[in-house]
Amino acid sequence: MKILVTGGAGFIGGNFVHLMVNRYPDDQIVNLDLLTYAGNLETLKPVEDRPNYKFIRGDIADEPFVMALFEKEKFDVVVNFAAESHVDRSITDPGIFIQTNIQGTRVLMDASRKYGVKRYHQVSTDEVYGDLPLDRPDLYFTEETPIHTSSPYSSSKASADLFVLAYHRTYGLPVTISRCSNNYGAYQFPEKLIPLIISRALAGEELPVYGKGENVRDWLHVSDHCEAIDLILRKGRVGEVYNIGGHNERTNLEVVKTILRALDRPESLIRFVTDRPGHDMRYAIDPTKIETELGWRPQYNFDTGIRQTIDWYLNNREWWEHIISGEYANYFDKMYGKRLETNP
Ligand code: NAD
Ligand code: TYD
Repeated sequence: MKILVTGGAGFIGGNFVHLMVNRYPDDQIVNLDLLTYAGNLETLKPVEDRPNYKFIRGDIADEPFVMALFEKEKFDVVVNFAAESHVDRSITDPGIFIQTNIQGTRVLMDASRKYGVKRYHQVSTDEVYGDLPLDRPDLYFTEETPIHTSSPYSSSKASADLFVLAYHRTYGLPVTISRCSNNYGAYQFPEKLIPLIISRALAGEELPVYGKGENVRDWLHVSDHCEAIDLILRKGRVGEVYNIGGHNERTNLEVVKTILRALDRPESLIRFVTDRPGHDMRYAIDPTKIETELGWRPQYNFDTGIRQTIDWYLNNREWWEHIISGEYANYFDKMYGKRLETNP
């Protein structure tokens, strides 16, 4: 089988490429990535010389390029991770989210139709369901929960999902969609909460917590997400949506304090800063469908997973210090400069 993985130089796509290259030596894994600020070829070092792996740089929204690539490579399966993925960036610059997340998905699906791809898998997010109130811990997102987005990021992901389902119904494209909760683990870009807090706590720097830190996220280890996608590719029913999550809800403040305790750093580093506009209160996945239909079960709970992740960041400083010392330093000043000056 020849499998196209888009966005494989990013966090989750990179972990997925590692899994697939190691697990399926007879399959060909082609990684298509534009190498935006979030893409990093150093993540692929452990697999870059494998005979069943190939990297191609390119834009999923570049139609002539994508069509030519599909004609040449004749992919059997496409797994689309490529996206602009950061909510805060979508608030300052929504346009690129429409271009990559919606238009890019459309281009990949038109190429998949034209060249007879046997499975198109869309990696989506639980953020398409909007948020849940903090005072209703009995509520969870199921696959039937209505789409109800908050941010330009989640709106672009939801739009893409609607196109994916429309391509199945209208053209019979054999699609599946997975909607996962927040991921953490190795190779996550240090603009997202967990690696941001680990790297800044190690440097003894202020830790920006939005609002009161009471927002809840449902954390899943990235390898559990990758295993779920592999399972959906092999056993999932075409045309279906699968939610992925492991019931590991934590407030942001709990997450930050857990990391500080593990690193033996003081809570005085925490700075409560101006809240994110439109900030979703709580995400929580009901994973019953993927558990009962496909037999998926997560291997990590948050306590074991966060310890392993902190160890990874401690043992792989070069990977993230490289990022922090580059262009990303300017991003941090731009995004947080004012917020850190004006604590509520
Ligand atoms: P990421 O930002 O770490 O990686 C995205 C990758 O896509 C990067 O390597 C980037 O270079 C590449 N890319 C961006 N634009 C591209 C384009 N036009 N053409 C080709 N490549 C392009 O993101 P991530 O956290 O690994 O997320 C991967 C996918 O999983 C996304 O679709 C995201 O919506 C979804 N998701 C993420 C989470 C999470 O917690 N991170 C949770 C659920 C779903
Ligand atoms: P993030 O990792 O950006 O993921 P998402 O917005 O997709 O859930 O943020 C996770 C949570 O942490 C979210 O509630 C926003 C919050 N947060 C902070 O409090 N401070 C920060 O510096 C960042 C990046 C996020």
